[in-house]
Amino acid sequence: MDLTPLTTPSHPTSETSTAELQLVVEAVKRCCAQDFSGYSQRSIGRLINNLVHEEKLHHASELIPKLFHDDAFKAHVIDKLTVSYSQLFRDPELFLQLKQKIFPLLASYPRFSIWVAGCATGEEVYSLAIMLEEAGLLEHGQIYASDISNQALTIAASGKLKSPLNAEDEERYKASGGNANLADYFSHDKGSTLLSKLLSRVIFQHHDLVSQPSFISAQLILCRNVFIYFNRELQNKVLSLLLSSMTSRSYLAVGIEENLNFCTDINDLELVSRKAGLYRKRSLLK
Ligand SMILES: C[S@@+](CC[C@H](N)C(=O)[O-])C[C@H]1O[C@@H](n2cnc3c(N)ncnc32)[C@H](O)[C@@H]1O
Repeated sequence: MDLTPLTTPSHPTSETSTAELQLVVEAVKRCCAQDFSGYSQRSIGRLINNLVHEEKLHHASELIPKLFHDDAFKAHVIDKLTVSYSQLFRDPELFLQLKQKIFPLLASYPRFSIWVAGCATGEEVYSLAIMLEEAGLLEHGQIYASDISNQALTIAASGKLKSPLNAEDEERYKASGGNANLADYFSHDKGSTLLSKLLSRVIFQHHDLVSQPSFISAQLILCRNVFIYFNRELQNKVLSLLLSSMTSRSYLAVGIEENLNFCTDINDLELVSRKAGLYRKRSLLK
């Protein structure tokens, strides 16, 4: 954990020291078996301070007895310490490049696997399923979507959007190369829900990139807007896990704000498109 002191913009009367933050992170690890020590201090500190505020406490260390003795609190703390924001067709350039460059390659395999790591509430994996369906490839692939937040996974597996489709979703879909009506992929009674024909192609499962081993050999991995929460050491560890989960010459997409250039294993990847956050694994044969 880096040692820059942390102040709380949302709760100016409290200031959480690095030592106090470390104690809370250690208590979360002991009580919830989730290790946040390799997360950037800025992001985990902000989330811990939000939790202090939400629980109407004064100091982060007051979370520790709750972690040890309050089962209801403990059950939700991982959900509270993660940011599950997502969006349909977020950064459309990626979906456009998948459609134009990568789907034709996937079509050459009899079967293929895709892993969406850190899928949050599902919008990204729904977007992928829609694009695969339009390319006639959905039936030929298996999509795995994983996260550490059980709350986010439950929402993702329900197929239900957090808010009904809107004009911006439609715009991003078109910019992604979508060629039908986005609304046709959803049922619209009580909100918008992805059609079961698409949802049933996705296996949702709990998987922790920090502590669990690879479980797949994939032709494409999306791990977008997840590295940004990790410190350098953890970024190295997670990239190595993802590389070990990729077949030769397969693809990895990260968030467009995420930079893998400092990772130890970056030479195992070649950049396909910075605008799309898209990389390809180099061949092992030089
Ligand atoms: C900001 S969301 C990104 C959602 C989606 N990939 C996107 O780009 O729209 C980050 C997600 O990463 C998940 N995450 C954080 N740490 C993780 C870990 N160690 N293993 C798996 N997922 C993790 C969080 O729970 C959260 O749902």
